[in-house]
Amino acid sequence: MNPFLFVTDLDNTLVGDDAAMMELSHQLEQHRRRYGTQIVYSTGRSLALYRQLNAEKGLLTPDVLIAGVGTEVYYNGSDTPDPIWSEKLSYGWNRDEVVACAAHFADLTPQPDTEQRPFKVSYFLTTEAAVEVLPQLEKLLGDRHLDTQLIYSGSQDLDILPRQANKGRAMTFVQQNLGIAPTRTVACGDSGNDIALFANREEYGIIVGNAMAELLEWHRANPNPNRYLAKANCAGGILEGLQHFGFL
Ligand code: GLC
Ligand code: MG
Repeated sequence: MNPFLFVTDLDNTLVGDDAAMMELSHQLEQHRRRYGTQIVYSTGRSLALYRQLNAEKGLLTPDVLIAGVGTEVYYNGSDTPDPIWSEKLSYGWNRDEVVACAAHFADLTPQPDTEQRPFKVSYFLTTEAAVEVLPQLEKLLGDRHLDTQLIYSGSQDLDILPRQANKGRAMTFVQQNLGIAPTRTVACGDSGNDIALFANREEYGIIVGNAMAELLEWHRANPNPNRYLAKANCAGGILEGLQHFGFL
């Protein structure tokens, strides 16, 4: 067996079926000890909300935590995000102006303060309102030369991020730091903010059986033999996919 880079989303991907998560965590921990496999969590949550989930669920300790939809990278339980990644995201990013643009839209309800981060501005937005608001907001940001990207997930969350930041770009940054090839990497997800883990990428991908419509629609429109749509939900689907690709 060879080491690999295991990258997974948390909510409704790794977390959601406690028994399956225990089994998967056990197998991953053994693989890490025996072969040096590296475990990366990539979540939309801030570090504060990650810690809350960890306290509730007792997650296996990752080697790297990517928080805030790819905007913050933490190694080995550190409290301080990698400053090199932060520096990369700061070019052309003007957070105050992004917030000012978003303030024009009454349908955007700010998320809690913990989820407002240096390189992430987050709102709640209904699917009905999203149809009109997303293109208008995108246009306004573009007119003001703000180089951003909009990521809509779970039919309710809107994240505005610097163009260079998303879960996929952060995965590349971590791969380079750890010296692990895309072809030895597998990424797992369930919702819209995970599309960046799968779009135009060489990594293996696992979509769990309970994935949201936004990700399933994208998957069907962009087929790729290196991407596996599991039958089982959450961690059970991850185990199924890892076995399918021969990682476990
Ligand atoms: C998590 C974060 C939230 C974000 C969402 C989707 O729920 O807490 O801020 O909008 O993921 O990325
Ligand atoms: Mg999720």
